[in-house]
Amino acid sequence: MSLAPSPSTAMKTPRGKLPFSIVTIVVLCFALIALLYADSARSLFKSKSCARRHVNRKRKDRNAEKDEFKNFAVDDRFEFDPEECTVNTGKWVFNKSMNPLYTDKSCPYLDMQVSCVKNGRQDSDYRHWEWQPDDCTLPRFNPKVALKKLQGKRLMFVGDSLQRGQWQSFVCLVEGIIPEDKKSLKRGRFHSVFKAKEYDATIEFYWAPFLVESNSDQPIIADAKKRILKVDSVEKHAKNWGGKDILVFNSYVWWMSGLRLKTLWGSFANGAEGYEEFDTPVAYRMGLKTWANWVDSNINPNKTRVFFTTMSPTHTRSADWNKPNGTKCFNETRPVLKKHHWGSGSDKRMMSVVGSVVGKMKVPVTFINITQLSEYRIDAHSSIYTEAGGKLLTEDQKADPLHHADCIHWCLPGVPDTWNQILLAHL
Ligand SMILES: *[C@@H]1O[C@H](CO)[C@@H](O)[C@H](O)[C@H]1NC(C)=O
Ligand SMILES: *[C@@H]1O[C@H](CO)[C@@H](O)[C@H](O)[C@H]1NC(C)=O
Ligand SMILES: *[C@@H]1O[C@H](CO)[C@@H](O)[C@H](O)[C@H]1NC(C)=O
Ligand SMILES: *[C@@H]1O[C@H](CO)[C@@H](O)[C@H](O)[C@H]1NC(C)=O
Ligand SMILES: *[C@@H]1O[C@H](CO)[C@@H](O)[C@H](O)[C@H]1NC(C)=O
Repeated sequence: MSLAPSPSTAMKTPRGKLPFSIVTIVVLCFALIALLYADSARSLFKSKSCARRHVNRKRKDRNAEKDEFKNFAVDDRFEFDPEECTVNTGKWVFNKSMNPLYTDKSCPYLDMQVSCVKNGRQDSDYRHWEWQPDDCTLPRFNPKVALKKLQGKRLMFVGDSLQRGQWQSFVCLVEGIIPEDKKSLKRGRFHSVFKAKEYDATIEFYWAPFLVESNSDQPIIADAKKRILKVDSVEKHAKNWGGKDILVFNSYVWWMSGLRLKTLWGSFANGAEGYEEFDTPVAYRMGLKTWANWVDSNINPNKTRVFFTTMSPTHTRSADWNKPNGTKCFNETRPVLKKHHWGSGSDKRMMSVVGSVVGKMKVPVTFINITQLSEYRIDAHSSIYTEAGGKLLTEDQKADPLHHADCIHWCLPGVPDTWNQILLAHL
């Protein structure tokens, strides 16, 4: 949304929403190519992407000619360019010889919650899938490139435990090439900082699971019914977000604990009894607006880039992927391969709230839209290879996946590495 409307995004809108005829698309394509012809270097990319969209269209409508276009389409993917390529549509490609840049043994900074191999996970296929967008190639995560881009900069992830996973993934992706005495990690209850000294760079995490304040930020209140949100207050957290060069926010899963949320505005001193209950999307909109106002009045977009990681899907209902007798994500070892698979763990109403709040902001916010690509990955959650209350699951707990399998968090290395691959491609 931060991007000026580009020809390819302009094409996407009619394609999704209106029954444009092929003729119209072709005419638009040629008009575009003609328009862009003068601008030589970039026009190549644009006419290519246009041609490719056209090919896609044709392949759908005229199956007989499929093969004729196939090679052309495969060869025609251009290098990722945030203005030209969306990562939302694509597929996971299995590549046994592709190994993650780290393991949960090589990287000393991973929480027990996500260290699946250390915790006993035996199958390994889940670590060898690469996300391949339909229209372009996503460069692999290159730690040297990442650290160069972060030279002299402060990168901060803000949000919940899924965002903490993305932060730890980023740290582990780069830390392997930094000598022992040139890096450090300081953990705090709210704020943790990884430093890469030679690069004068930091990769930080700030805990704010709702972004706005709540009575359950720290310590966490286990009983979701007792949590109260202060949807109009963000300053206590946000005063720690100043002076950063890159901010990456998220907030979703904590809002999804029940149908309605207890929300409060004004002072907590009014008494916790002064709350009102709202439907989740309503409370979410109020909270996000408070966050958006803070960003708009405190962030200088010339100095700081702002990203928002969209909702991370949960996989607790195996009927979503046609396994009515399954136990959540337990024992899944392959992604869902059905194109556009979307489960009940990703609430489209919440997505549209984020879209509409961010759409009205002054400061440009770039989405790292990870929802669709992560939806496919029922195989990549921590499942029973995790902890509860700081202790590894016992054998008894492991034998009861219905109650103990974690189908919200992701093993690391794993899917959040792909989120960071996308983030890096935008930097
Ligand atoms: C699989 O990964 C290996 C190792 O990185 C790479 O050389 C190869 O090109 C990849 N294969 C495909 C089909 O992407
Ligand atoms: C950002 O930079 C542009 C162009 O240099 C300038 O016009 C604008 O006032 C700057 N915005 C802020 C908030 O400093
Ligand atoms: C699920 O379990 C029921 C009862 O145990 C059985 O009748 C049914 O065939 C099973 N369905 C599948 C898809 O395995
Ligand atoms: C897990 O899946 C494997 C293979 O699909 C199956 O043989 C095994 O019984 C399953 N384990 C449990 C506990 O359901
Ligand atoms: C993210 O992508 C999905 C499709 O994969 C789309 O429906 C949704 O609107 C996108 N979200 C935002 C905030 O752009």
